[in-house]
Amino acid sequence: MSDARPMTRTIDTGDCSRRFKILAIPGSLRRQSYNRGLLEAARQLAPVGVEMQIIDLAEIPHFNSDVEEQGDPAAVALFKEQIRRADALLIATPEYNSSIPGALKDALDWASRPAAESVLRGKPVAIISASPGRFGAVRGQRALRQVLDHTGARVLAVPEVLVARAGELFDEAGKLQDEETRARIRALIEVLVTWSRSHQAELVAA
Ligand code: FNR
Repeated sequence: MSDARPMTRTIDTGDCSRRFKILAIPGSLRRQSYNRGLLEAARQLAPVGVEMQIIDLAEIPHFNSDVEEQGDPAAVALFKEQIRRADALLIATPEYNSSIPGALKDALDWASRPAAESVLRGKPVAIISASPGRFGAVRGQRALRQVLDHTGARVLAVPEVLVARAGELFDEAGKLQDEETRARIRALIEVLVTWSRSHQAELVAA
């Protein structure tokens, strides 16, 4: 199915009484993923009025222009629609060899096409990351920011949430136990909602 819609954007009036929808995207496909765990915590910590849907990228194929010419595969069409409907995205990425996992890059490549109608353009995005190492996937975050900047997404600059030594912060059931990290995630969501709403209001005023 080719995406022949005109270039439209969902513009909110900044109405705070409407539920704010965040699409949460884990860059890892691992069942016990720390990054997925951050998003599970985010969903629990989200303020009233904020709805968070966590998706899985496992069904999204590698990007292939030949396949794209035949029309988006069903998983890709669904992914684009989920992005289109979301007020903002929250992406949790691991760092693989100083960059982002291939599955996440493929998904973003699909979402960025066709460029003139990209569902990523103008979309508010916040990034979080976790790593068992000392640096919390800082290079992965940087790589993700570079990709998103190219797509025209609006990426929240601060607060940065980098979760280092993730293995020490989750319990055996995969629940984030560390209170300081939970507080940082809650603050990030609050800023993401406020910032996205002010951006939407700017678009309406323009
Ligand atoms: C890693 N890991 C890793 N960690 C890191 O801090 N910097 C890195 O460059 C890499 N590189 C890397 C490459 C590949 C192929 C794998 C599989 C792993 C370790 C990585 O942070 C760890 O596996 C995390 O647990 C992955 O995140 P999830 O799956 O727990 O969300």
